[in-house]
Amino acid sequence: MPRFPPTTVRQRLTLLYGGLFLVSGTVLLAIAYLLFRRASGANLVVLPGAETRPSLHAREMAEKAYASSVERNTDLLHQGLLRSVIVLAVMTVVSVALGWLVAGRVLRPLRVMTATTRQISERNLDQRLSLPGPHDELKELADTIDGLLARLQAHVAEQQRFAANASHELRTPLALTQAMLDVARNDPTRDDGDLVDRLHEVNTRAIDLTEALLLLGRADQRSFTREPVDLSLLAEEAGETLLPLAAERGIAVETAADPAPTTGSRALLLQLVTNLLDNAIAHNLPAGGAVWVTTAAGPGGAVLTVENTGEELDADLVPTLAEPFRRGAERVRADHAGVGLGLAIVKSIAVAHDGALTLAPRPGGGLRATVRLPADHV
Ligand SMILES: Nc1ncnc2c1ncn2[C@@H]1O[C@H](COP(=O)(O)OP(=O)(O)OP(=O)(O)O)[C@@H](O)[C@H]1O
Ligand SMILES: [Mg+2]
Repeated sequence: MPRFPPTTVRQRLTLLYGGLFLVSGTVLLAIAYLLFRRASGANLVVLPGAETRPSLHAREMAEKAYASSVERNTDLLHQGLLRSVIVLAVMTVVSVALGWLVAGRVLRPLRVMTATTRQISERNLDQRLSLPGPHDELKELADTIDGLLARLQAHVAEQQRFAANASHELRTPLALTQAMLDVARNDPTRDDGDLVDRLHEVNTRAIDLTEALLLLGRADQRSFTREPVDLSLLAEEAGETLLPLAAERGIAVETAADPAPTTGSRALLLQLVTNLLDNAIAHNLPAGGAVWVTTAAGPGGAVLTVENTGEELDADLVPTLAEPFRRGAERVRADHAGVGLGLAIVKSIAVAHDGALTLAPRPGGGLRATVRLPADHV
């Protein structure tokens, strides 16, 4: 039942329809009344023989006839007005009823959308409104909500995949530790030193993984203080740290570091450069590989490029490498036991700094990773 003051769009639309009908009907009636009143006066009465000089009696008769004619006309006009007002009142009621029905019909898709959206929770995020009908504003709204649901569903699925992968990766070293301890318990003659070494190795890997996860969380939350940072200095620092590793694997590292100022967390950006350089060394050719690191201040901001030789990479696979726990299909080096979080961390850090990571296969094999960050305007 409609309530007053109107609380629903349907009630408001009905009132609007009814109100508009009443106002335009009243205006029409008033105009018609005024026009009729002007036309129903002396003009309607034409006295016979008015052009000849009338006698006194005839004049009186004519005046009486004129007066009664005006009175009759006025009566008729008032009666007509009264009937018109009654008809207008009845039609206003009818128009309110019709308005109520029409408003209900127009708003029906909205009610369906509200009911369906209310049912959707994280358990049935695959449900869509899929509103049928012409391409109007309501369909546009429904399609927009469907798009939002699709993005939400993809995000939730990604989070669930991430949690499952993280749990799996964290369980692996724990299960490995337990297996080693079981073997040691059942075989008292085993060398304890070897066991301790292997346990230490597995434990280090678990700590590395946990730290990578914490780092990812920190970057995603954007909870860090920003300071002016020059990417070229970070590239040199990371290069110095990883140079022994590159030398050990016979990889030549060439650096062309032009100043590339930006703002952000120095520690996180150093981690970004280190991860890219670590990848460029770890996923390089078994012998005679090369790495090129360049930093520059481009028109769009600070740019860091890390390029390396290596195996030929599948162009379809490359864009997925930055997903968490994604490792390349083929391992170039068996001794590199990565967890597949390096590039995910790089991407998160870049995005947290309002930048972006682009990966492209290098012609002839290997990868080119480019990070663009906003320039430092301070
Ligand atoms: N510079 C590169 N050249 C060739 N392949 C690369 C390069 N960087 C990454 N990849 C491929 O992308 C995958 C994902 O890289 P990512 O750094 O995320 O994980 P990871 O290096 O395997 O492990 P970690 O978490 O220890 O870094 C790698 O396993 C590798 O196959
Ligand atoms: Mg890596």
